[in-house]
Amino acid sequence: MKIAVIGQGYVGLTIAVFAGEHFEVVGFDNNPKIVDQLNRGISHIEGVEGSTLQSWIKAGRYRASNDGADIADVDLVVIAVPTPLTSDRKPDLDFIDAACKTVGENIKKPVLIINESTSFPGTLRNFIKPTIEKYSKDAVEHLYAISPERVDPGRGDYNQKNTPRLFAGLTPEASAMTREFYSKFCDQLVEVSSPEVAEAAKLFENTFRQVNIALVNEFAQIAHSLGISVYETLDAANTKPYGFMKFTPSAGVGGHCIPVDPTYLAAVAEEHGAPATFIRRANDVNLEMSKYVVDRVAADNAGSLAGKSVLVVGVAYKPNVADVRETAAELVIEHLRQRGAVVSWHDDVVGSWNGESSAPLSGADITVVVTKHDDVKVRDILDSAPFVFDTTGKIPGAKGL
Ligand SMILES: NC(=O)c1ccc[n+]([C@@H]2O[C@H](COP(=O)([O-])OP(=O)(O)OC[C@H]3O[C@@H](n4cnc5c(N)ncnc54)[C@H](O)[C@@H]3O)[C@@H](O)[C@H]2O)c1
Repeated sequence: MKIAVIGQGYVGLTIAVFAGEHFEVVGFDNNPKIVDQLNRGISHIEGVEGSTLQSWIKAGRYRASNDGADIADVDLVVIAVPTPLTSDRKPDLDFIDAACKTVGENIKKPVLIINESTSFPGTLRNFIKPTIEKYSKDAVEHLYAISPERVDPGRGDYNQKNTPRLFAGLTPEASAMTREFYSKFCDQLVEVSSPEVAEAAKLFENTFRQVNIALVNEFAQIAHSLGISVYETLDAANTKPYGFMKFTPSAGVGGHCIPVDPTYLAAVAEEHGAPATFIRRANDVNLEMSKYVVDRVAADNAGSLAGKSVLVVGVAYKPNVADVRETAAELVIEHLRQRGAVVSWHDDVVGSWNGESSAPLSGADITVVVTKHDDVKVRDILDSAPFVFDTTGKIPGAKGL
């Protein structure tokens, strides 16, 4: 069986490489630079080894392409393209539309099309199917299914194989074929009664995180105002063996999922006249956290940051990855600069970002830790400035949330 995976980013490349063990895979991406790199066996995604890619290429099991003709003879398509927000923070399905165009225009026999991109309930039935049909001149009757991706880039303990996978087809035949496909490389498949349930479950998983992170971020502010340690209080609460799950405070949330997916849920809720109060508020609390952090840093420095050299440590949105999408560091830097600080950042995992490069971890007046990668030493952070403010809870001896 030959498959195409549309989009060769975090999700698409990961799935392409897992599937490569069992199928011939065309990794379709509209970015020619990525296609060229991948065909040379160079992976741009953490957790996907170049050596695996190279062995699949050698065995004729993987090829990247940006030519639609290369997917014409596949039997199955996985869509894994970005689903961001528009500038006015509404769901943006333009990338899905473009992926549907590639499929519709190039595949002229019935195949199974599985969407792994995150979107609101109804996307498969009311957007992907009609859009592919719109672009297909041959009126091909494809099969459609959804299987939302749950991959957590950089994570070692859970991967494609041992993370239970939700799925649902638009028809029983699509469900059966989807089960057969994933059962080759996933241990546990969980079929739900409709694509809408699978789509909503994915959004709810990330909304659960967004709301709980907002709650703990609000609690960090309460604990500080009471003069108690938020971390000690959370550890104390966490001794309860049931009914509690520990989340830790931070400078905000980042990545492609947690700051974005809840807004997809809120948008569809409001469109259907249902409230999304918690979701909207949680988003605001997390976004406001960067300002709170900078206010605290200023308060500890006689109220002014003007002219101070401030080093932000860790600009990736989470430890040990180079991903800076929606990173809280961006807002922290913005607030610091608004207060007149001279800001540089240190993150050798990211290297360069926004036209700036990682600065040395030394010589600042103030260091603010937003993300701590494992290979950055606590001692080096503490020595980098006379005042260190930590938002991660990982720097004993520093001031912090
Ligand atoms: N990154 C995660 O941790 C994660 C986890 C679960 C779900 N998701 C969801 O998976 C989807 C993909 O996310 P990602 O993180 O892999 O994105 P990504 O930005 O890492 O990769 C997307 C890739 O798609 C390519 N692309 C864009 N439009 C295209 C098109 N029309 N045709 C072909 N290629 C195209 C881009 O060049 C890019 O390489 C999103 O809906 C996201 O919400 C992401």
